[in-house]
Order: sequence, then C-alpha cells, then structure tokens
Amino acid sequence: MFAINAKDAGTPAAEGEPVTLSIDGAEVTVPAGTSIMRAAAAAGGAIPKLCATDTLKAFGSCRVCLVEVEGQRGYPASCTTLVAPGMKVKTESEKLRQLRKGVVELYVSDHPLNCKGCPADTHCELQNVAADLGVTTSPYGFEGANHRSAPCDDSNPYFQFDPSLCIACSRCVRACDEVQGTFALTIEGRGFGSRVVASQDESFLESECVSCGACVESCPTAALSEKPLAIMGRPQKAVTTTCAYCGVGCSLEAEVKGEQVVRMVPSRDGKANRGHACVKGRFAYGYATHADRITTPMIRKQITDPWQPVSWDEAFKYAASEFRRIQGQYGRESVGGITSSRCTNEESFLVQKLVRAALGTNNVDTCARVCHSPTGYGLKHTLGESAGTQAFDSVMKSDVIFVIGANPTDGHPVFASRMKRRLREGARLIVADPRAIDLVHSPHIQADFHLPLRPGTNVALINSIAHVVVTEGLVNEAYVAERCEPAPFQKWRDFVSLPQNSPEALAEVTGVPAELVRGAARLYATGGNGAIYYGLGVTEHSQGSTMVLGIANLAMATGNIGREGVGVNPLRGQNNVQGSCDMGSFPHELAGYRHVSDATTRALFGAEWGVQIEPEPGLRIPNMFEAALDGSFKALYVQGEDMAQSDPNTQHVTAALSALECLVVQDLFLNETAKYAHVFFPGSSFLEKDGTFTNAERRISRVRKVMQPLAGLADWEATVGFARALGYEMNYSHPSEIMDEIARLTPTFTGVSYEKLDRLGSIQWPCNDAAPDGTPTMHIGQFVRGKGRFYVTEYVPTSERVNVRFPLILTTGRVLTQYNVGAQTRRTANSQWYEEDVLEIHPQDAEDRGIGTGDWVGITSRAGETVLRAVVTERVQPGVVYTTFHFPDSGANVITTENSDWATNCPEYKVTAVQAVKVQRPSDWQRRFREQNEQQLGLLRGATAAARSRQ
Ligand code: SF4
Ligand code: SF4
Ligand code: SF4
Ligand code: FES
Repeated sequence: MFAINAKDAGTPAAEGEPVTLSIDGAEVTVPAGTSIMRAAAAAGGAIPKLCATDTLKAFGSCRVCLVEVEGQRGYPASCTTLVAPGMKVKTESEKLRQLRKGVVELYVSDHPLNCKGCPADTHCELQNVAADLGVTTSPYGFEGANHRSAPCDDSNPYFQFDPSLCIACSRCVRACDEVQGTFALTIEGRGFGSRVVASQDESFLESECVSCGACVESCPTAALSEKPLAIMGRPQKAVTTTCAYCGVGCSLEAEVKGEQVVRMVPSRDGKANRGHACVKGRFAYGYATHADRITTPMIRKQITDPWQPVSWDEAFKYAASEFRRIQGQYGRESVGGITSSRCTNEESFLVQKLVRAALGTNNVDTCARVCHSPTGYGLKHTLGESAGTQAFDSVMKSDVIFVIGANPTDGHPVFASRMKRRLREGARLIVADPRAIDLVHSPHIQADFHLPLRPGTNVALINSIAHVVVTEGLVNEAYVAERCEPAPFQKWRDFVSLPQNSPEALAEVTGVPAELVRGAARLYATGGNGAIYYGLGVTEHSQGSTMVLGIANLAMATGNIGREGVGVNPLRGQNNVQGSCDMGSFPHELAGYRHVSDATTRALFGAEWGVQIEPEPGLRIPNMFEAALDGSFKALYVQGEDMAQSDPNTQHVTAALSALECLVVQDLFLNETAKYAHVFFPGSSFLEKDGTFTNAERRISRVRKVMQPLAGLADWEATVGFARALGYEMNYSHPSEIMDEIARLTPTFTGVSYEKLDRLGSIQWPCNDAAPDGTPTMHIGQFVRGKGRFYVTEYVPTSERVNVRFPLILTTGRVLTQYNVGAQTRRTANSQWYEEDVLEIHPQDAEDRGIGTGDWVGITSRAGETVLRAVVTERVQPGVVYTTFHFPDSGANVITTENSDWATNCPEYKVTAVQAVKVQRPSDWQRRFREQNEQQLGLLRGATAAARSRQ
C-alpha cells in the first residue's frame, strides 16, 4: 500500500525523443515510449488504474484505465498504449465511465467495500477508484463464489497476506520479479481461480521471500499490508530520513503517529534506492524503542561495581575529571577517542574535534580501520581520492560487472537488486569469491565466470588478470597515454607481464583454473563498460591495500574510470563508514583527508577551533590496544562502536579494555565493550536526531528527527556536554551549524548545507564552486590527483598459513537479516531468519571429521577457540570454512588473529588457519563469556531499578 506522500504516474518514465500529443484537448509533450497514462499524469490528469504503478512495467490486466484514441477502434488500456505524435486522446466520457464502472463493480463483488477498520482505509486504490466512479456496491451481489473466507497468512513477522482482499492485479508478483529480483511469487490458476502463491505454495516465512516489502509497497489494497498498520492505525505524517544500517543509504519515509513509527516506506525520490528497501531498513527499526535501551547516564569506579545512574552533568563531570586526571598522571597522549560509522557526520566530526581540540592529541580512530581503511589508502594513491567513483545509478550503464570479495545480495541488498536488474537486461557478470555467493547462480542470473579463489590470494588473482590484459594487447593504450603517469605504468606493465604472474603460473596459488582467469580478463577488458564492485573480501587482508591498488591499476589500464557505467566502487559496510572517514576520524588526517603534518591545514583548523593541532599522527585502534596493555594508554571515549565483539582476537581486545582506567562508552545498549566501561553515555538512535549520513556513493543524505531522544540528549549534544566539561567550549544549537563548520573547513564540502540538502534531496561530494550540485561520477577528463598512478603489486602470501595443526582456512562474512555485531537486528524479529552464527563446512571436510549439519564444532586457531553449530554445504570449497559474527557468544572473533594490512592495520578477518572438530560442549571462552555476561547484566539491573525509582 502506498506511502502517504507518494505520487504515482502509473508507468515508468521513458527516455525517448520528445513527442507531442493532445490529451482532453490540451497539448502535452513527453518522451517517446511514454504511456498515455503517464502522459495524462504529466498533463495534470489522473486516469483510474489498479494494476499499474510507476515502479513496474505496464501489465494491462485490470481494464480500468481504458481511454478513447481518435482514429482507433475500441478502448485501449492507457497503461500499455504508448503515445504517438499528433495522437488525440480522450480520458473522460460517459462510455468510458460505464466501462470502468462495470469492471470495478466486478471487483467489488469479491471485495466488498467494508472499508471501516481496514488498514488500507483511505489509502486503498480500489476504494479510491470505486469512490471516483460512484461505485458503492456491486450489482452482481455478494452471494456467488468468492475468496472472502480465504485464510490470512501472517507467518511473516512484519507483514500479512490476506487473500480475501486480493484483486489478483499481479503487482506483488511483478514487484518481486522486477524490483527485488527474487521471483518468490506467482499467480497460480486462471480467471476467478487466480491466486497469489509464494514459492511452492508455502507460507511467506518458509518461502524464498527475503522480506524486502516491495510487494507490500506495490499492493493497491490491504491484501499485503504491514502488521503495525493494522494495530496502530493510519500514520499522520511522513518524515524523510535515511536508513541507519548499511552503506547503500536508502532514503526512507518514516510514517509516524505522534512520535511512534507506524511503518517505514522507501522513498521514491531516494536517489540511492529509487523506491526500494530491504528487510533491515524497511522493517527492523524496532530496536530503537526496545526495552534494552539504556536511557540514563551511568558511572562506576571499577568494572566489577554496580552501575550508578546519574544525571548527564554528573556523567560529563566524572568522565572529564577522569580524563584530566589521567592526562595529568600519564601524559597528554594517554587518552583517545573512537568515532562511529553508525552515527552522523556531524557526530563523528565532533568526536574527533573533541579529541584533537579538547584533549590535545591526534589519538582518534574509527571503526573503518577494521573494514575499508585499505580503500582509502589504495584509491587515494592511485586516483587521488579515497572514495568510490560512481553513483549507484551508474550500474544501469555497465556492460560487464565484476564483483570481487563482496556479497551484495546479503550485504547491500538494495543495490544488489539494481545490479540484478541490469544483469537481467543482459550485462555480463564475473564474481571472484571463495564462496558461491547467491549472485553466482540465482533466478534469471548466472555468472559468466565464478573465480573461486583461495582466501588470501586476491593479489595473485588480480596480477594474473592484469597479466592477460597486458600480454594479450587488451590495454586501452590511448586512455593510459592521455591520463596516467607513463613511468609507473611501464613499471607495472613490465611487472605484470612477468611469466610468474601468468594465470597458469598462479593457478596453483589461487586455486582458480587459468582458462577461467583468461576468460574473465578478456571479458572485463573488452566487454564494453566494465564496473568493479568490491567489499571486505578485498580489504580485510594482510595485502588489502595492495589489492585495492591492483583493482585501480586494472581499471585504469582498461580505461574503465571516468564515465558512467564503469568505475571502482567499494561497497561500504556500515551506514556512515564513508562519512566517518571523510570527517577526519583517522589519526593522521583532518576532515577531507588532509594530513595532520600539513601546516596550512593545521593552521586552518587551529584558527577555527582556537587551539594548536598536533603535527604528528596519533594512535590507530590496534596501537591504542597495545599501548593500553603496556600501560601508556589509559582512557578512551568510544562512540557507537563495539570493539569487544567486532575487532579481531577478542581476548587481546578485552585484555586491553580491562587495562584502561577510564572507558567511556556511548551506545544504545550495554554492548560488549560497555561491559568494560566506567562511564556510560546513553546513545540516541537515528530516529532521535538530525544530521547526515554519507553512503558508499559519497551521497550525503539527511537524517531527520521523528522522536525526542529517549535519554534526553542526541549523541552530538552529549559530545558537546563532554567537551564543555573538559573545559573546551562547543556552541551549536543545531547539527546544521556543525555542517556549516565542516563546509568552512573542507574543500570537498564547501557547497554543502542543510538548505541545499533539503532542496536537492541529497548531494554527492565533492560539492563546491566547481560542482555546486555535487559530483555523481568522479575523475571525468582527469583524475583528482592529475595523472593516474600505477603501483607494482607484488603478491606476498599471508603469514597465516594452513599446516597439520590448522588445516582449514576460516573466512567470515554477513547475512541479509542480521547486521554487523547484531546489536540492532538481534533486537528485532529478524532473528527469526537467523538466530545464531553457524559454521559452513564443505561435505568432504565434514565427512573427514564426522561432522553433520547441526553438530557442535570446536574451531581452534592460533588465537583461541570457539564452538559453533555446523552447516554442511557446497557453498564453501574444500579446505575453507565460513562464519558470521552477528552474535557475541559465538565468539567468531576469538579465533581471528591480529594479522593486518601492511599499510593500514585493517585486520585480516578473511584468513584464519583453523582446525574444526566435533565437540559436545561450549568452549572455555564461551563459558567465561556467559558468566561475565550474567555478572554485567546483574550490575546493570541494579542501576535500571534505581533509575526507575528516581523517576
Ligand atoms: S517481500 Fe520482497 S521478496 Fe518477499 S515476496 Fe514480497 S517482493 Fe518478494
Ligand atoms: S496481493 Fe495485492 S498486489 Fe498482489 S495480486 Fe493481490 S491485490 Fe494485487
Ligand atoms: S539496503 Fe542497506 S540502507 Fe537500504 S534498507 Fe537495506 S540496510 Fe538499509
Ligand atoms: S491500470 Fe491499465 S490495465 Fe490496469
């Protein structure tokens, strides 16, 4: 059912040459390929419709939209009839009215207009069309065969399917096919017997449905409707905001009643998502008001003490006095902060400002350290800018899509749907991944090449692809000569041409047959517009930065950067990982990726902030942990990040956190890191504040407040309070003023303001005098650094090798329904689809070990041991096991090691040598974890009870 603010032109926009026609006597000009229905909407009219909607191709089944066309016999359907020059169309006449009325009366005979109490009341298209035509009942009566007693399917936790309200318009089926690309629904039977069926006539929950909600959105009645709508009633208004989950950054309409969200509807104007969303953004927002939310600031001396609820002022004063005491005792550099990739740009900016200006150190880092820091390094060095090159729309102009180390259908589902749409239109697909991810083979999608490389051999693979490009004469010589530095290119060309970089020589290393590599290389280099999309399977390696350099080399060598349809595109994990990096969260860079050693940049920031900025880079997260363990680092302010669960080698991390004298955690929940904290600042969800997020396409989008912060302060206000308690004045009355400061200080943001964001909807940086409305495609004409620079990318095997003791390689990833450490999604009904982390193991490895699906498996690495339930599957190759880290007590990061990228310290999550054996009980770590968890929850319960009694 439609969003309350949605406008619908009936059929999708066309892009042809202008065509002028007459509709009801008025001239209208539209692109060729436009339907009469859409042309009528452009002329300000509205032809009644039921089976048509502008997000789906016209179908022409309901016959409500009939019109008269001069010179044509009969009454063509306006949704399926295209405009023609000079056409004369009549959309209203008594005859048309009678025809339409007859059709609607038939519908009403099986779907009486008992609208009172229906969730779709006033937003039902059948109800509205019937009202326009004056239909209140059906002359056919209600006694005949009908569907009114068909049972409702309420298996899905978020929406229900009531077949008694279905008018068999097929919009849901087409939405699942065309928009989502899952093909979970069909219309079974014919005529009166037609009915909507999920998969093999299963319930929605058991079917292939991925709960994206596209069918619900497209349903013209309440046959498919969100459950809260039935309980809470109609929303009163819609607030446009941005999803707080992944880096796609979908624009959503939060439809609210008072301060309560009734439902989230993907925004049709959203340039990142074009009216689509996934199960997380669309439905899994209930964590924001979950009973586990902590809404009172708390302090304690020791982590074994009960938490004491205090006022915000007391919490600020206590934290500030501890930080100042520690700096006095151990030195200025003994403290630091972590910004959050989940909080807004403005909030990340303030945390790094607090660290640099109020604490006087560059010891600030961000969780991007553990995901995409190699992207920043690799793209900055080769192209000159630490960001992806394209807008998501660009994929619709790609001819060859090369996905490397990413699983978009799970990690970036809305973008995956766009990509799949382009693939169904005929684009070719190459997937490089150790696992057979869904994209390799799914309904109407078949990868041309799947390169199932061994984890840890990315650089060998990219070198062997480059070898084919260079030695088979597939380099775009003119592009390279015009746009790249010649000497480094020649060096790279000589290097990749070496026989040891041939696919044949490296097949032994990568495990990928040479002919597959050769075929994929030829396709990428010669198949037209080639676009690379990559994820953490590229960056989270000891050679993560080298691989990003290698990807950029390949794209430059084939001329695939600087126009639509091509490019190098990191798929960012968290909602604001791009933004937190842009905002100067790294210890060596101020906002806009300017090095702290640059005196001019320091002077600019120093003058604005009234301080001297230190010229030396500060500590990275792993260095902070090392320093904590050696006793030189004693206090840390962590905003919205759960290192105790998300960072590698959990036991090392928790030992470091335990060594701190003051750990301040700002979060929605008592996360794993907060169990080691001395001060807790209750966080605010994306629904409780204003701000901006920046997605993977550099798109800055507004986050808008729909409810007051549950703890009284938004995250940015808490940082201001902490800074003031430290004696450093921050004065902002609204986050727009923080953005104004960012724009004053950051050349790529000079033209960004809330006024412009409100006007344009969103902006892709750089946005400045040279690009006042932003920059969808980067590096057009020339690279940001001037000439593109090639780098030699020698393959250096990781030191994390298999041996007799640890014969398997563990690699990690994520699933669609859970998100990162799971703190949000575990507190929603999404857990119905995925309630624990499991270990995927190949049948051959499972058989060798006597392991079956459902068995407990002990996984041991050089770092530690944990126990997970097994799933035996051929998705993984022999010798490789796979898991996720969405649940704290599965302890996936107890076994990952501290190996990290040589340039950025991004951990090598994707390669851990392990052994797997069948076991009967949890690991020692898991038993200790559960005890500690119980103890910490007990210490929290006391504080919660005390806070309640004070209210
Ligand atoms: S929710 Fe999405 S995946 Fe499920 S049936 Fe509807 S459109 Fe298809
Ligand atoms: S469920 Fe809704 S969208 Fe699907 S066929 Fe029925 S009325 Fe149409
Ligand atoms: S694709 Fe990402 S941004 Fe979009 S709704 Fe899903 S989780 Fe949110
Ligand atoms: S809206 Fe045109 S036939 Fe249904």
